[in-house]
Amino acid sequence: MTSSEPAKDAALLRSFGRRRGRKLSPRQEQLLQELMPRLRVDLSAPAPSNSIDLFSAPVTEVWLEIGFGGAEHLLWQAQNRADVGIIGAEPFEEGVVKALHGIEQSRLANVRLYDDDARPLIDWLQPASIAKAFVLFPDPWPKKRHAKRRLVSRRLLSGLKRVLKPGGELRLGTDIASYAREMLLALRQEGGFTWCATTAADWRQRPADWPQTRYEAKAHREGRAPTYLILKRD
Ligand SMILES: C[S@@+](CC[C@H](N)C(=O)[O-])C[C@H]1O[C@@H](n2cnc3c(N)ncnc32)[C@H](O)[C@@H]1O
Repeated sequence: MTSSEPAKDAALLRSFGRRRGRKLSPRQEQLLQELMPRLRVDLSAPAPSNSIDLFSAPVTEVWLEIGFGGAEHLLWQAQNRADVGIIGAEPFEEGVVKALHGIEQSRLANVRLYDDDARPLIDWLQPASIAKAFVLFPDPWPKKRHAKRRLVSRRLLSGLKRVLKPGGELRLGTDIASYAREMLLALRQEGGFTWCATTAADWRQRPADWPQTRYEAKAHREGRAPTYLILKRD
């Protein structure tokens, strides 16, 4: 659990699996105990009217990554875009520890973390406070009876529509064809987003500024072709 207010919404079905995996090493425990409290976004305080004020580094805009997993993409973006502040949300402890390790190693001052369900975090953010949002390879929940746990739904899109700036960008990735269709349907129903693809290559090929994540690499190994969706907030 986080020490900041979890703001649980009873209506939210859990969209993630286990929160803890292997026992952490003493060093990892230390990162969680010492570095995490300094980086955790505190939902019990009001959200700043300008989201760049969440960062001590002089950033010009703020991005949000939901479910960053092993933090490959989060750290790559933070290292390559020192001018951008990135908030990463991930409830899986091992993922959070990987992010903390990378932040410390690379001395990144442009990352804040939320180690819980991203949905209360989105509700907390001010309208039009985020320039880019990423939901990369969300849990597929392949069994029919679990499909309602899929994170990318109209509920999530409506929250992202509120917090994304007009002209902002939303990137969604999945290796599950039915999920890609579901995403596109939910986007159409929700409205407020324009799909930027003009040719099939636009959703079949990963852009150069979208580094490969662990789950994407696994999808390729297992013969599943990912879909990359880039949407513009109208
Ligand atoms: C299949 S993994 C993909 C991880 C990473 N994005 C990647 O591509 O390698 C999905 C991740 O989303 C996280 N997740 C699921 N529901 C979430 C939620 N409501 N808020 C934040 N993260 C969530 C899970 O804990 C898991 O780490």
